[in-house]
This record gives sequence, C-alpha cells and structure tokens, in this order.
Amino acid sequence: MKILAIVGSRRKNGNTAALVERALEPFREDGSDIEIIYPGELNIEGCSGCEGCSKTGLCVVNDDMQPIYRKILEADAIIAGSPTYFYNMTSDMKKFIDRCYCFFSFDKNDRSVWISRLSKGKLKLAGLFAICEQNSSEDMGYTSDAMKSAFEALGFRIVFTQKVLHVFKAGDILKNENDLRTAFGNGLKLLKTLKLNS
Ligand SMILES: Cc1cc2nc3c(=O)[nH]c(=O)nc-3n(C[C@H](O)[C@H](O)[C@H](O)COP(=O)(O)O)c2cc1C
Repeated sequence: MKILAIVGSRRKNGNTAALVERALEPFREDGSDIEIIYPGELNIEGCSGCEGCSKTGLCVVNDDMQPIYRKILEADAIIAGSPTYFYNMTSDMKKFIDRCYCFFSFDKNDRSVWISRLSKGKLKLAGLFAICEQNSSEDMGYTSDAMKSAFEALGFRIVFTQKVLHVFKAGDILKNENDLRTAFGNGLKLLKTLKLNS
C-alpha cells in the first residue's frame, strides 16, 4: 500500500505528529510504502487563484508542491492531521489543500458541475486527525469538518475522523494511552479497508 501522511503542525515532536505516527504503525508492520510530509517546512505557496490549471489540470506554480502532486495521485490513502489554530486547521494544512484545486475539472458553462480527478479510477481513502488544547468540541471549531469536506470533495472516502481535545504542549498526547490506542485502531481500520478494496 502507498500511504501519504500530511502533518499540519510544524512541531515534529508534537501531538499531531505522534497521533499520525501511531496510525501509521499498522502500515509499517504491513510493509507499506509510507511518506510523511510537513507542508510547514516546505516551500509551498498558497493558491493564487490564477486558474492556470483550468485547461491542463496542472498547477503552474513551481514550488515544492510539484513533486507532491505525483505522490497524491499514486497514494492509496492519505492520513492528514492538523492542530486547531483559531478554530480551524493550520494555514500549512490549508495551503496544502488549496493547492489541490488543480485536481478539479469544471463544466465549461456550469461551474456547479465539477469532479475531482482523484475520484476517477480506484477509490482513494483517507483518515483524519484534529487536535486541540481546550476541552470542548466548540473550541476545536471547524478543524475536522473543514478537512473532511475538503478531502471528500477531492474524492477521498473518509474512513475515520479522530478528534482529540485537551492536549497543549508538544508531546502531551504521549500521556493519553487511550487516544494513542484509538489512533492505532483507526490506522488498522484504514489498512483493512484498503485491503478490501485491492
Ligand atoms: C496559533 C495557535 C492557535 C491555537 N488555537 C487554538 C484554538 O482555537 N482552540 C484550541 O483548543 N487550541 C488552540 N491552539 C492549541 C493547539 O491546537 C494545541 O496546542 C495542539 O495540541 C497543538 O498540536 P501540535 O502539538 O501537533 O502542534 C492553538 C495554538 C496555536 C499555536
């Protein structure tokens, strides 16, 4: 299996990274091909809305997103995680998602008619993590919903969405054995679902 993990936090020792890592464990045990990307440490511009991709489906911005497009196309599944920053995903996760705009094709005369190229061919799966400091879902805001809508629009079937509240400092999550166990279980569920689909 080819798995692409996107971590929306810049803290490599942070809570999002630890949860994503735990969900990847079943894939490592299974010998999958795994790549983890931190958009925040790459040179990835935000989408400029130039519509340069509208004819060819290829983004014209020449930066670190270019090699990632192939990785997205080749991936059987994506695991994406973001901390909550001001009630939503981080800007690093958002710019990664926005730059996936080039995967969409719209009808020439009716822009309400559209499809993502990623939804053609073999079904792609995704698993999502949203992590925040406060205790209530309201304080997590739109983080998981916004990621879910985006990845669904891009053509992914979301196999799990794990929300984790009340973790603040980098590595706080390592004290929450239940959340880590759930993350492992979610990774395993994603792997098993992929196997049903292969
Ligand atoms: C700029 C910024 C904004 C944040 N906004 C929120 C928020 O709106 N709600 C919340 O509960 N936590 C918020 N947090 C806390 C983080 O979501 C929390 O510390 C999380 O565990 C960080 O994940 P990481 O370790 O993967 O980086 C914010 C943190 C930062 C730095």
